[in-house]
Amino acid sequence: MPALESDLRSKPVSDLSEADAVLELEHLARELTEHDLRYHRDEAPTISDAEYDALKRRNDDIEARFPALVREDSPSRKVGAAVSAQFAPVRHGVPMLSLDNAFSDEEVAEFVARIRRFLKLGEEPVWFTAEPKIDGLSSNLRYEHGVLVQGATRGDGRTGEDVTANLKTIADIPHRLKGKGWPELIEVRGEVYAPLDAFAAFNAEAEAAGQRTYANPRNFASGSLRQIDPSVTAKRPLRFFAYAWGELSAPFAATQGEALERFAGWGLPTNPRSRRVEDLEGLLEAYAELEADRPKLGYDIDGVVYKADRLDWQQRLGFVSRSPRWAIARKFPAQQARTILEGIDIQVGRTGSLTPVARLKPVTVGGVVVKNATLHNADEIARRDVRIGDTVILQRAGDVIPQILGSVPEERPAGAERYEFPSVCPCPLKTPVVRETTGGGAETVVRRCTGEFACPFQRVEHLKHFVSRRAFDIEGLGEKQIQAFYDEGWFSEPADIFKLARDEAKLEALRERDGYGETSIRNLVAGIEARRTISLDRFIYGLGIRHIGETTAITLARGYGSVGAFISAMDQVAAGDEQAKEELDALDQIGDAVIEAAAAYFAEDHNRQIVQRLLAELDVQDAEQPKTDTAVAGKTVVFTGALERMTRDEAKARAETLGAKVSSSVSKKTDIVVAGPGAGSKLKTAAELGLQVLTEDEWLALIGDTPAAEG
Ligand code: IVH
Repeated sequence: MPALESDLRSKPVSDLSEADAVLELEHLARELTEHDLRYHRDEAPTISDAEYDALKRRNDDIEARFPALVREDSPSRKVGAAVSAQFAPVRHGVPMLSLDNAFSDEEVAEFVARIRRFLKLGEEPVWFTAEPKIDGLSSNLRYEHGVLVQGATRGDGRTGEDVTANLKTIADIPHRLKGKGWPELIEVRGEVYAPLDAFAAFNAEAEAAGQRTYANPRNFASGSLRQIDPSVTAKRPLRFFAYAWGELSAPFAATQGEALERFAGWGLPTNPRSRRVEDLEGLLEAYAELEADRPKLGYDIDGVVYKADRLDWQQRLGFVSRSPRWAIARKFPAQQARTILEGIDIQVGRTGSLTPVARLKPVTVGGVVVKNATLHNADEIARRDVRIGDTVILQRAGDVIPQILGSVPEERPAGAERYEFPSVCPCPLKTPVVRETTGGGAETVVRRCTGEFACPFQRVEHLKHFVSRRAFDIEGLGEKQIQAFYDEGWFSEPADIFKLARDEAKLEALRERDGYGETSIRNLVAGIEARRTISLDRFIYGLGIRHIGETTAITLARGYGSVGAFISAMDQVAAGDEQAKEELDALDQIGDAVIEAAAAYFAEDHNRQIVQRLLAELDVQDAEQPKTDTAVAGKTVVFTGALERMTRDEAKARAETLGAKVSSSVSKKTDIVVAGPGAGSKLKTAAELGLQVLTEDEWLALIGDTPAAEG
């Protein structure tokens, strides 16, 4: 979301004014939410873990300086992935927690010392297990009487998704425990992961077929496990390692090491590199060995997990907030490699932004072959002074898009010149490129082609966006096909896609072609026809208007209800109608950027015609309206303090579905305050104003969701 990277982003936290901080926290909340969705829901992150962490840290730092500005929807209040509506929710009887990280030997020493202090140990040796930290996704397998009865993802740690049918397709996971001695009830926890070679083979095949590829093995594992159709999961090369447990009917081991042995005896795969080690020295040695062998393992690991071996000690050590005191993850540093920068290509995005992409001499970093890396923008290239022909240092932090850290000046070939960022778009029109400014007029790092729809690159990107998964999601029409039909001159705007499905002459021409059998043509037509009926939010998102992402599209769809109301409101906004603008502004989370972008889009006659021609092909369904016949319809609700039975997002979504409005601050306009443990000033204000205050359970009873029995 480069548009949000205003000048504020480069200001140190200590220099921010309070007004800056408000803005910046809002931007960070929006960006991080969007990145969360890309990561967890789409399994297609667009920034590296390190960049994500940096944004999160900035958010935390600003909040630490301005505690009063902490937003209700602050990223610091969220844990892990939201649960999707595709799968039934599974409440974990024993929460699936995360681990604290250690990045240095000192931090590991501190971990050992803390345990010694806490348990008041003298000279007594402390044993640990050192286990590879598998970079996949953790799952919970529930065995009753030795039979696998349910499998779930971690989700947000408290509630996961029921993916039993999918987990059962993984050959490593026994449907029945072998041997004997297993407790009547045991939840086995471990990691679903994808071997590197199988992952690479899948991506190569998918790319050749014009289908979606995955950024890394972890996203691939997660995407494969969370398929609606288990037969798709069955074809994916997933594996499993067991390393922990949840609910138990009876203890089954005295140490972690013994637990792993029992798992293996019951037919559950355990990692062959997990072992017992003694004290700090053993921990550091295990780390060094695993780090050295990491490239040979055949699957991604991102560190080593240390666990106090004795379970009675684990019991005594307990937990601090969300992580156990008895375990820690020693993370590996990012993996680096050197290679040659062979060229720099400019990619033109849907909205005309120009992104420089490094073309690299292929090199393996952490088991993955890297050929391209983003160089972000012109300023970044200038700052790092990377030149074509340079030897560059590449970093892959167990994750997404590899980063170029810089070049090695001593190895620069003679005559290598500074990179000159193009001043015109690389498209045949050669439209001039401008530096983008923020609403306030400050320059940003983004260069943009001004060609809009006249720029063929932007046009084709618009079409790709239109058919993408979160927009029209047209099966059989991937980026490759869009590009091909575009080059052919068949597609120039979205309406053309729907015309193709009924154009016998073109379909006949397709039949003549290699690679297009009768079945694939039938599927293509069916895929297109299936989307003639479309929800209003997908329609709005599909238009690809700047700043109107999926969440905003949903807000707009709910706000206007029907496509007719939406279009006429946008026409009025474009015509400068103040009332229409105010109505738009009044919608939740809609700000100036969206209003300006919508106005600019609908002010263009050309765009309005594209929309009209598209509408002639479609049946756009009205948005689902919030209910009016519930106990809380029309009421304003504030959630404060900790919620124990649901996440705040869940609570908000549920309340909104029932027609309530959820607000973050308590005022006279508030009808109900739902207060959990730790509620502070808001609860006080509510009491002063004499508002109705409910516990979480009372709230659930009011809306008719009986609280689930405690696990
Ligand atoms: S133990 C209470 N052991 O790391 C601790 N976790 O940050 C439970 N992971 O969500 C986790 N390998 O996805 C444990 N050998 C291992 C692991 C492991 C990978 C992941 C797991 C967990 C995350 C914790």
